Amino acid sequence: MKASTQVCLDADDFCHHSRKNVKNHSLKETLKKYLSCPACQGALEISATEREDNEIITGAIRCSSCGHDWPIIRGVPRFAAVDEVEQDKAATAEKFGWQWQHFTQSDPGYEKQFLAWIAPVTKKFFKDKVVLEGGCGKGRHTQLAAQFGARDVIGIDLSAAVETAFAATRDLPNAHIVQADIYNLPCGRVFDYAFSVGVLHHLPDPRAGFKSLTSKVRPGGHVSAWVYGAENNGWIIRWVNPIRERITSRISPRLLLQLSKIPAAIVFTVTKTVYGPLNRSPRGARIARHLFYNDYLKAIAGFGWREQQTIVFDHLVAPTAFYIQGEEFADWWREIGVADGDINWHNSNSWRGFGQIP
Ligand SMILES: C[S@@+](CC[C@H](N)C(=O)[O-])C[C@H]1O[C@@H](n2cnc3c(N)ncnc32)[C@H](O)[C@@H]1O
Ligand SMILES: [Zn+2]
Repeated sequence: MKASTQVCLDADDFCHHSRKNVKNHSLKETLKKYLSCPACQGALEISATEREDNEIITGAIRCSSCGHDWPIIRGVPRFAAVDEVEQDKAATAEKFGWQWQHFTQSDPGYEKQFLAWIAPVTKKFFKDKVVLEGGCGKGRHTQLAAQFGARDVIGIDLSAAVETAFAATRDLPNAHIVQADIYNLPCGRVFDYAFSVGVLHHLPDPRAGFKSLTSKVRPGGHVSAWVYGAENNGWIIRWVNPIRERITSRISPRLLLQLSKIPAAIVFTVTKTVYGPLNRSPRGARIARHLFYNDYLKAIAGFGWREQQTIVFDHLVAPTAFYIQGEEFADWWREIGVADGDINWHNSNSWRGFGQIP
């Protein structure tokens, strides 16, 4: 159902322009209360020129204080555009935009993987919380957070991945997708919980990205972050990074898609014939734990070909990727005032953290 009349977004249930009843819980009306001007924190006015089933597809957002405005295009408020941000951020966003518009598949293994990335957080933790996701990619975790019972979850991403994320979450009334730069978020300190999975290490300044994200969490709220670790990844830093930096992040994603089939085939073969089967029995697991990179390869062994190719492609496509020392990661948390953060080593190759904002 399309409506192209000019409609307004008053907080009440009645749209004065179209003289029709509009339900108060349409996607963007709920979203509005969490948004504020990224430049001056002023209140935002939203107007719609095209709606579909109560959702704004095309429209505009305007700051009532400073007059700045931003478009809503294909259902997504656009507070940032890839061609307007710094070159290093744009290069990363272009690659991931392509990645998440190509690898749009969903997988039943995402839930377990997500909960492992944000442990000790559980499904129940999301109940009634207002949640922010920094760097939502194709929206798989925004979707899960909404399904776990969050009151509202806002997934932000700088790249064209928002197109896929919007399509993946548009049927969930409590899920919202916004195109924005994690360094310049269009919201105040309104969130009960913020999380970021696999994003901060791709930023030009990961610590500053972490600080920006966590600055949107209210005192007493919580934060989770997961990043690549430096420890145990010496082989990637030494052998894979130079290839990624000089070749794979520079060639066209289409060519990388073909080339990545070679390492993906190796990963797929060893996980399906060695790591997966061995780790399924206690006796085999005792042998497998001596194998190279066992904890991680065991964790992805259950995924099929397409998901494993996504993982390999993801590791090769990014122009920027930092491998972060545990001490450095712990320092990020201390710097935002989280003294007793729950920081631990995940899959023997990465750091995950959880803490409460003072
Ligand atoms: C490896 S993907 C992870 C996506 C998602 N968290 C997941 O696990 O499926 C990294 C994401 O960070 C996003 N990103 C990179 N730089 C960003 C920035 N400055 N602001 C917001 N998002 C950014 C990319 O566009 C990409 O979608
Ligand atoms: Zn403003």
